[in-house]
Amino acid sequence: MAALDLNTDAFNAPDSPFDLALRPGDFSEFHGQTKVKEQLLVMIEAAKQRGEPLDHVLLCGPPGLGKTTLANLIATAIGSRLQTTSGPQIERAGDLAGILTNLQDRDVLFIDEIHRLHPSIEEYLYPAIEDFRLDIIIDQGPKARTIRIDLPPFTLVGATTRAGMLTAPMRSRFGIPNRLDYYTTEELQHILLRSARLLGVEMQPGGALEIARRSRGTPRIANHLLRWVRDFAQVKAQNVVTEEVAGQALTMRDIDETGLDEMDKRILEAIVGKFDGGPVGLNSVAVAVGEDASTLEDVHEPYLVMQGYLKRTPRGRVAMAAAYKKLGLMPPVSAQTELF
Ligand SMILES: Nc1ncnc2c1ncn2[C@@H]1O[C@H](COP(=O)(O)OP(=O)(O)O)[C@@H](O)[C@H]1O
Ligand SMILES: [Mg+2]
Repeated sequence: MAALDLNTDAFNAPDSPFDLALRPGDFSEFHGQTKVKEQLLVMIEAAKQRGEPLDHVLLCGPPGLGKTTLANLIATAIGSRLQTTSGPQIERAGDLAGILTNLQDRDVLFIDEIHRLHPSIEEYLYPAIEDFRLDIIIDQGPKARTIRIDLPPFTLVGATTRAGMLTAPMRSRFGIPNRLDYYTTEELQHILLRSARLLGVEMQPGGALEIARRSRGTPRIANHLLRWVRDFAQVKAQNVVTEEVAGQALTMRDIDETGLDEMDKRILEAIVGKFDGGPVGLNSVAVAVGEDASTLEDVHEPYLVMQGYLKRTPRGRVAMAAAYKKLGLMPPVSAQTELF
């Protein structure tokens, strides 16, 4: 049976009806990310008390951890409309002008993948977010002139999978960035029990824990695995998800006990088998495994690094002792002693 392609799924189709149905509707349903959540709630409360628009917010972190959800929750909490767009969608200055001039007082403008905004568009965005004005140049040559349009006060929420790719001027327009981390197994278990309730699935705590362990710290993946486990339980286990049923269901789809998927394993195999454990450049790994370099960098590597399988060094990617063990191999001395 084919492996579930969870990450490509997570990357390309983030807002399926299934995701939307399970998305928390207010902050109390948003479990985990305690620090980020508390900071946002303080900011929101302070802005409300002063009667001012909320400061601009930057959300960073790998796909599926809750950035889009938080943007929605922020808008709901301040009682505003959410206008959604993304970096690649804004191709021309005119596109941005159209979006900005349609904003109403206190709207939340959500720009997903904000690191992919074109630099020339960023130039137009700065005065808009600093002083709520838009300077548009009309005509060319000697007749060129600038007209200024005043905008209503609004809040920009930017999301990025790659904080490092944001330009310095853009980063400085936001306050302290909110970094989302991978969730703990217990947090994912809690999220899964809620999702199961919403889907009407009879889920035992052990079943939720088993799915949580294999979800790479990511709620979106947890929910997608649940969807498969639900089908499996319906057909094979009288609709009850026990720890054993969850384990069987996920093993059938090649999701291993630590949550590594086919692509994760292929990456480790390539670095160890084809490049002697590294250091090897990202693009060489991408070619070897047949995946886009940016998907490797955004989706797969952060988790492999966090789990101690992989290290990023200035000279390239290096497989750690844990990667060899995962593949059932003896780690070479260099991997054990961390020469890099
Ligand atoms: N803290 C959370 N609690 C419960 N569910 C969550 C949480 N974070 C994310 N989810 C679920 O995961 C899915 C993906 O979250 P999303 O906000 O789209 O991630 P991102 O925008 O970072 O890729 C959502 O549909 C939601 O159901
Ligand atoms: Mg998103």
